[in-house]
Amino acid sequence: MQLSSRVLQLKTSPVRKLVPYAEKALENGRTIYHLNIGQPDIETPEEFYEAINNFKEKTLKYSHSAGLVELREEIQKYYKDLNLDYGLDEILVTVGGSEALLFTLISLFDEGDEILIPEPYYANYNSFYDLLNIKVVPIKTKGENGFHLPSKEEVQKLVTSRTKAIMFSNPGNPTGIVYRKDELDMLNEISKENNLFIISDEVYREFTYGENEAISFGSYKDAEDRVIIIDSISKRYSACGARIGAIISKNKEFMNSIYKLCQARLSAPTLDMVGAAALYRINKSYFVPVKAEYQKRRDILFTELSTMEGVRAAEPEGAFYSVVKLPVENAEEFCIWLLEHFHIENETVMLTPAEGFYQTEGLGKDEVRISYALKEEALKKSMNILREGLIKYRTIIEK
Ligand SMILES: Cc1ncc(COP(=O)(O)O)c(C=O)c1O
Repeated sequence: MQLSSRVLQLKTSPVRKLVPYAEKALENGRTIYHLNIGQPDIETPEEFYEAINNFKEKTLKYSHSAGLVELREEIQKYYKDLNLDYGLDEILVTVGGSEALLFTLISLFDEGDEILIPEPYYANYNSFYDLLNIKVVPIKTKGENGFHLPSKEEVQKLVTSRTKAIMFSNPGNPTGIVYRKDELDMLNEISKENNLFIISDEVYREFTYGENEAISFGSYKDAEDRVIIIDSISKRYSACGARIGAIISKNKEFMNSIYKLCQARLSAPTLDMVGAAALYRINKSYFVPVKAEYQKRRDILFTELSTMEGVRAAEPEGAFYSVVKLPVENAEEFCIWLLEHFHIENETVMLTPAEGFYQTEGLGKDEVRISYALKEEALKKSMNILREGLIKYRTIIEK
């Protein structure tokens, strides 16, 4: 018996690759600070659980394939507050942002079609690209420039007759970038001139720091027919386990195709949608302390990293990640060494080697992605472990 070649070619996610080493460390009684995953430790608002407790229907039925109307209405209001007008038929609820991504790619791409994406990018996209045989054409970006985009000429050069879409997350995972207006204008121009879709993954929209603000691609009126927004409550309301996302687009033909896929999987989880609707009803002031908390963590991370010898990081502008250059040749080996051999008072850290966020062979070898979705105290301890770990590792390697 043989599984499909489609599934056999799938790679392990770089975020999960080190899990066996972490399990071993746990067996050895270590405490691990997880700087490797984007699982926020902020509590899910209680309104979510209350709404589910108040759900009194005797039978837990399938919901409408497009998503519960009460949830779609809340999403519509949420966008209206952002000055973006969407009809209910322009919002389809999905099982997390992940399903929104999968359905979008299924709808747009034939095998061998090409997608342009700034690199490094969220590695999970690769599972979908590989499953669907989509050819990834990376737009190279560099840590020295804060992972901002290259010139229009450079991006334009990458477009071929097979290019179907430009895709990115904004704010960005794994880099923490927030694209400036001139960068989005440039992508809009390229998409217009070459008739390309824009897939704008905006699941971290609320989390921007300092002067940075995430501009939704939905605000480009001249691009309405080309823009697809990927959304989710996972990070917005710290509700990753609720598995509720959405696809938002004004392109009717595209939305009709997505609706067919929604029908094929019958419905998103009813109770999660009930809870999600309650989350969208929460007063927007909810985001003020949450954002302040993330900003504090970002500041701790950036300040600490800036004082570590040989370490280079761009100041994260949004989301809760940073791609960090380490003074080691092989970051994956260093991450494994931390789990296997290094601890301070029995505590160690787990980081994600950044190589898996790049498509271009050889890039990211000396980089890690750090997620700062951890509380202040845990983050400070983790930074100390990283600092001391690097010092120790370099003495061992240099011997
Ligand atoms: C950039 C980006 N897009 C989409 C997702 C998918 O999130 P979910 O499926 O939980 O909505 C994630 C999750 O980490 C992400 O980082």
